[in-house]
This record gives sequence, C-alpha cells and structure tokens, in this order.
Amino acid sequence: MEQTLVLVKPDGVQRGLTGEIIGRLERRGLKLVAMKLMQVDDALAHRHYGEHVDRPFFAGLVSFITSGPVVAMAWEANNAVEIVRSTMGATNPANAAPGTIRGDLGVDIGRNLIHGSDSPESAARELALFFKPEEILSYSRSNDGWIVE
Ligand code: RTP
Ligand code: MG
Repeated sequence: MEQTLVLVKPDGVQRGLTGEIIGRLERRGLKLVAMKLMQVDDALAHRHYGEHVDRPFFAGLVSFITSGPVVAMAWEANNAVEIVRSTMGATNPANAAPGTIRGDLGVDIGRNLIHGSDSPESAARELALFFKPEEILSYSRSNDGWIVE
C-alpha cells in the first residue's frame, strides 16, 4: 500500500487549521499511519527541500518551514501520493481550485499550509527523514471494506 508524507506547515498550525486539514484527509478515506508535532531544524529543512537549493525562494522557504512547529504525518492508500496532491490543490493557492485545501484556505504561495510528497520515490525519501520505521504503524480499520472495494 502506498504511503506519503504530509506536513501541516507552520502557517497551518499557527492558524489553528491542523484539525481542518487532518479532517479533510480522513474524510477522503486515507488512513493515518504516523503523526507528530515537531520543530523542523535547519539541517532537516535543507535535506527535505534539497531539490530547491538553487531556487530564489529557497532561503525564504527554509526560514518559513523552521519558523514554528509542523505536524508531520504519514498517510496510506492506494495512490496515496496522487490523492493527497489533488486534495491539497495547486502549489500557488491563487491558482488552486475551490474545494482543495489550498484553494479554500490560502492566498499566498509562500503560505500554502500543507506539504505532500510529489512521487512515491519522494515519499519514501521524505518519510525516512521524518519517521523511524517503527513509528509508521500498520493496522486495520473496521470500515476499510466500505472505503476500498
Ligand atoms: P510542497 O513541496 O511544499 O508540497 O509544495 P509543492 O510540491 O506544491 O511545490 P514545490 O514546487 O515543491 O515548492 C515547494 C514550496 O516552495 C514554495 N515555493 N515558492 N515563490 C515561489 O515561486 C515558490 N515556488 C515554490 C512553496 O511554499 C512550495 O510549497
Ligand atoms: Mg514539492
């Protein structure tokens, strides 16, 4: 089963939108398999966002993601990466469709509330940065058969 890393970014935590964001992912049918409130330090921010190191927004991105606590989570489903990305909406909330997290709750690309891995390969790399293997749980839900055929 596919797993993906989700972060409620510091703006989401500060604005009291953690529950709203988790609720949307839960209602969609994804399974929460790991979660922690944590402070991202400079080293972790550089590793997590390493692909963007040469971009002009990199310094601002690192300073933002380290500016306050984040809620790091692992979510599981068939096609979890794609399902989370479509629930998040476009990177720039100004272009994100209504009904998505960014399209309903944000206005600025630098305050876009949520991170979701962009491929299964990124998900594996990012999950290993945020969680030890034993922190990602395996369990059944009594309603699994009503969510997945
Ligand atoms: P994320 O990694 O945070 O889930 O977002 P994403 O895949 O939709 O976007 P990505 O291209 O990976 O960019 C990472 C984060 O960098 C900030 N960004 N700012 N000012 C800009 O042009 C710009 N472009 C990207 C955003 O906060 C984005 O989420
Ligand atoms: Mg990304």
